[in-house]
Amino acid sequence: MKTSLLGQLSPKTFLSRHWHKKPLRVCQAIPDFLGFLTPGEIKKLAIHPEVQARLIIREGRRWTVRHGPFRPIDFKSLPERNWTVLVQELNFWLPEAARLLDTFNFIPHARLDDLMVSYAVPGGGVGPHFDSYDVFLLQGFGIRRWAIAETNDLELIPGCDLKILRRFKPQSCWDLEAGDMLYLPPQCAHDGVAVTECFTYSIGFRAPSHQEWVNAFLDHLRDNLTVAGRYADPDLALQAHPGELPEALLRQVGQILQSIRWNEQDILSCVGRYLTEPKPHVFFNPPVAPLTRAHFIRQAEHQGVRLNPRSGMLLRGNRLFLNGEEHRFQGKGRRTLVALADHHHLPPGPLPQAVAALLYDAYLAGWLA
Ligand code: SIN
Ligand code: CO
Repeated sequence: MKTSLLGQLSPKTFLSRHWHKKPLRVCQAIPDFLGFLTPGEIKKLAIHPEVQARLIIREGRRWTVRHGPFRPIDFKSLPERNWTVLVQELNFWLPEAARLLDTFNFIPHARLDDLMVSYAVPGGGVGPHFDSYDVFLLQGFGIRRWAIAETNDLELIPGCDLKILRRFKPQSCWDLEAGDMLYLPPQCAHDGVAVTECFTYSIGFRAPSHQEWVNAFLDHLRDNLTVAGRYADPDLALQAHPGELPEALLRQVGQILQSIRWNEQDILSCVGRYLTEPKPHVFFNPPVAPLTRAHFIRQAEHQGVRLNPRSGMLLRGNRLFLNGEEHRFQGKGRRTLVALADHHHLPPGPLPQAVAALLYDAYLAGWLA
C-alpha cells in the first residue's frame, strides 16, 4: 500500500485517531486518480438490468430519487445542472474497481461493503445527509465541494424520498480534486456538490445494526438448534375457566426457552455465514460447459485462481466461509486458503488436494472469476 493513501499517517495511526471517530482529508491520496469511467460508460452501466443504480435530481431544496435499471431515454431529457447518477457495487462490474479495494486492505474484509461511484453534473449531489457507515470518498475526474459537520443534530426532513438533513450547518468545506480523498466516520453530516462535472468513488464499510445481528443469530439458531422433549402436564390442575391460558403451561415454556444454549462456535458460524452471504440481488452464472475436475485443477495450478468479485470469503481458525457456506479444513491447505481470503486470488502453483476440491465446487457454482 502506498503511504500517501492516508497522507502522513500510517494505517495504524489512522485507525487509532480517525477510524470510526474523526474525518480526515487527504490531498492526493492516489495522485491524479481519474477513475475508471466516462459519463457515457456510467450511463451504460445504469441501464444494465442487474446493476443497482439511482438517479437523483435536485430542484431548489427538493430532491427526487429514481431507481434503476434505467432506459437510455431516461438520460436524454435531463437538465444541464443539478443531477447525479449513482451506481452501487462497481467492484462487481470492473476488475480495476475491484483492485482499487485492495488499497484499503488495512481494514478487515469483514467490514467492507462495496465501491459505489457517482457521476454528477454541476450542482448535482445527494443532498446534506449522514451515513451509518464509514466511507472513503475518493475524488475521480472533476471537482466536488464537500461540506461536513460533526453534530448531533441529525433530524431528517420528514416525508422526503431521500434522507436529507433538516438543518445542516457546515463546519468545514473543501474542494476535492482528482486523487483527493475524504474519510468520514458514521453519523458525520456531509454534503457533496459537484462544482464541475465530476465522479466520486465511495469505498463503503458495512456496520450492521444490533437488530440485524440478532435477527441473523436467531435465524442461525432456528436452522441449527435441535431440542429434545415435548410438553407434558401429568399434574394438570382443574381450572375454573378452560379459555384461560394455564400459568403452569407458560412456566414450562419459559423453562424450555431458558434452556437454549449457544457457544462461540455458533457465533463464529453465524457471523461468518452472515457476512459472506451474497445480497439477495446477487446472482452467479455457473459455467455452461464446465471443465472436468482434473482439467480444472491443471488449469488452476497453471494460471492461478481468482474469486468472482461478487464472492465473499472470510476465514478464522479452521473455518472458511464462502458465500454463506461454511467449510472446515485441516492443516494442509491453510496457508493457501489464507492467501485466497486475503487477496481473493492465488498465483499459479500446486494446490493441496482439499483446496482443489473446494475450488472445483466453487468453480461449478460460478463463484470463481
Ligand atoms: C456521492 O457520491 O454523491 C454521494 C456519496 C456520499 O455522500 O456518501
Ligand atoms: Co454519504
